[in-house]
Amino acid sequence: MSSHAPQKDKRQNVPAIRRRKGGRRLSMVTAYTYDHARIADAGGVDMVLVGDSVANVCLGHDSTLPVTMDQMVYHTAAVRRGIERALIVGDMPFLSYTVSEQEAVRNAGRFLKEAGADAVKLEGGEEVKETVRAIVRAGIPVMGHLGLTPQTVSMLGGYKVQGRSALAARAIIDAALGLEEAGVFSLVLECVPTDVAREVTERLEVPTIGIGAGAHCDGQVLVFHDLLGLSRGGHTPRFVKRYADLATLAVGAIQEFVGEVQSGAFPAAEHCFQMSEGEDQKLPASLSLPTRGAVADGLVAPTPDDEPV
Ligand code: KIV
Repeated sequence: MSSHAPQKDKRQNVPAIRRRKGGRRLSMVTAYTYDHARIADAGGVDMVLVGDSVANVCLGHDSTLPVTMDQMVYHTAAVRRGIERALIVGDMPFLSYTVSEQEAVRNAGRFLKEAGADAVKLEGGEEVKETVRAIVRAGIPVMGHLGLTPQTVSMLGGYKVQGRSALAARAIIDAALGLEEAGVFSLVLECVPTDVAREVTERLEVPTIGIGAGAHCDGQVLVFHDLLGLSRGGHTPRFVKRYADLATLAVGAIQEFVGEVQSGAFPAAEHCFQMSEGEDQKLPASLSLPTRGAVADGLVAPTPDDEPV
């Protein structure tokens, strides 16, 4: 096993994730479907986040706002079916936890009850603290999310680094402490300066998971499509590290398929099926029989179709 191979453990759980504070770094990747989940799990991530970024990367929207609770439950259930080991975190979509605490608890519960998630994530600080408390009180583990919070991008004036000034940094640190007091089991820090993420990480007892938040966090998260080079076109944020270029590989493979279909090189003999032994000889005679109902009428004997495809 190479020194870069991920360590394999049994199924993850919330207390085990919490115990990793200050220890072996946590890895999280987004996943939106069964096949993403199988790839992420096989790669050995500790957590998969069914992010509301599904709106952008899978559904073609230009923000996370349009994705609905039903869509998030649908995608989370698909991810659940693909996971054996990682902890599954369902991302609560825009307006699913801010209208009332009661609705927030009910929606958070849907991720666990209907989709099989282990926890939920929601964005915000002081303004969602009591909601976090209510969800945790209902027995649902919550991951917080501070810094650049894409659901409130209009309020933030765009996708910008947060906490650059001392005052703004202080607000993030205070919000992080408030969320911890309300019961979050971990906290995503998105697009904040390295020093701010380090301060938060040192002050919290729960693990911080960074995305564009420097190297001092207890873990890191990346979007599946960014990490694998599956997103084509558009702006790639500076914090993304692309570990593969699957979109180029995929487009190349499809171009090759199109070319081979056009040239007749595909399908080759090994991709084709043959009639049962001797049956091809009988075909001309059977063609002289009435076509419709010939098998049903017993004029043509059905042959065993037991060859697996
Ligand atoms: O939805 C998402 O992908 C996220 C991550 C960026 C943390 O919230």
